[in-house]
Amino acid sequence: FTASKGSYEHYMLKEIHEQPSALARTWEGLASISVPRSKEVDFAKLDKLQIVACGTSFYAGLVAKYWFERVAGLIVEVDLASEFRYREPPMSKKGGCLFISQSGETADTLAALRFAKSKKQYCLSVVNVPNSSIARESDYVLRTLCGPEIGVASTKAFTSQLAVLFHLVKKAAQQRKCGQDLIKSLGRSPEHDVVSSMHQVLMKENRIKEVLPLFKDATSAIFLGRGQCYPIALEGALKLKEISYIHAEGYAAGELKHGPIALIDEGMPVVVVAPYDRLFEKVVSNLQEVRARGAKVLLISDKLGCEMCKSYADYIIELPTVNEILAPFINSVAVQLLSYFTAVERGTDVDQPRNLAKSVTVE
Ligand code: G6P
Repeated sequence: FTASKGSYEHYMLKEIHEQPSALARTWEGLASISVPRSKEVDFAKLDKLQIVACGTSFYAGLVAKYWFERVAGLIVEVDLASEFRYREPPMSKKGGCLFISQSGETADTLAALRFAKSKKQYCLSVVNVPNSSIARESDYVLRTLCGPEIGVASTKAFTSQLAVLFHLVKKAAQQRKCGQDLIKSLGRSPEHDVVSSMHQVLMKENRIKEVLPLFKDATSAIFLGRGQCYPIALEGALKLKEISYIHAEGYAAGELKHGPIALIDEGMPVVVVAPYDRLFEKVVSNLQEVRARGAKVLLISDKLGCEMCKSYADYIIELPTVNEILAPFINSVAVQLLSYFTAVERGTDVDQPRNLAKSVTVE
């Protein structure tokens, strides 16, 4: 991966396109990496995993919570570093902590790591920058190999973090002798499926541009998701607000009736991230609720989901069908492209959005 934009208009678009190779490289690296074995985590010995991160890395942690709990039967708590470090939570004697950071220098995440170490917790980290402070101070480090990420809004680092977390979940399931049916259902090479489906999503750029009228006059937008796609709804909303400056909120679709539905009025864009999985029907009923109140709905789903909901959505983006556990990988790419093209249309500074920094090394 080079640090130049090449033929792309923005680093962000280049980095979105680098994702299939970034993930393939990350998985290859994890398989071949040689590290001292002495401190490698044994998930079978843990009774709880505490994940700590900031920003987009926090959302990668939220996806991992769904994966670890469902597949590996491991209790996971996910915390924002800035909350965790000052809350001073009691730590389980048999617990472990996992820190996720692209830069490895985020001040709050580093401080949270130091706090956990002072409580004698086993500290594992997932970083992109190998000699960063977080990497140096952790007991064990796993690397995303996505190359330098220049665009301030994280894209390839996020999905590469998911790649490492997916690897850890599979390992945890094996060590804890749990979730073997789910692992089997992933087929022989889920990693290969993710990479090839991501390529297919990247070929949908023109389709994604066609839904941009949804945001044309929007001042606000809502993203909905359930289960492991709830964090993708949060990430979609974060991306949109970061680079297009449209006020956007992500919600767990089931929470709609507890407040956010009051915001829905004529023309409000609502993006629903809902692959056809065991929660699909529940999301569809949420989708009908917002549509009945005048919202303009964009459904991001797979073939079956799109077929079933054609008449309930104003816009549809059909993604390739993958095993439901893998859905966060490809749905992420769709919401990244959606925010990217929206921002380009609005003429904002996509790679350097106002008031944001790539790495936040002060509190
Ligand atoms: C900043 C960046 C985000 C990033 C967050 C956490 O806010 O703009 O893109 O997700 O920091 O950074 P880290 O390097 O710890 O992943």
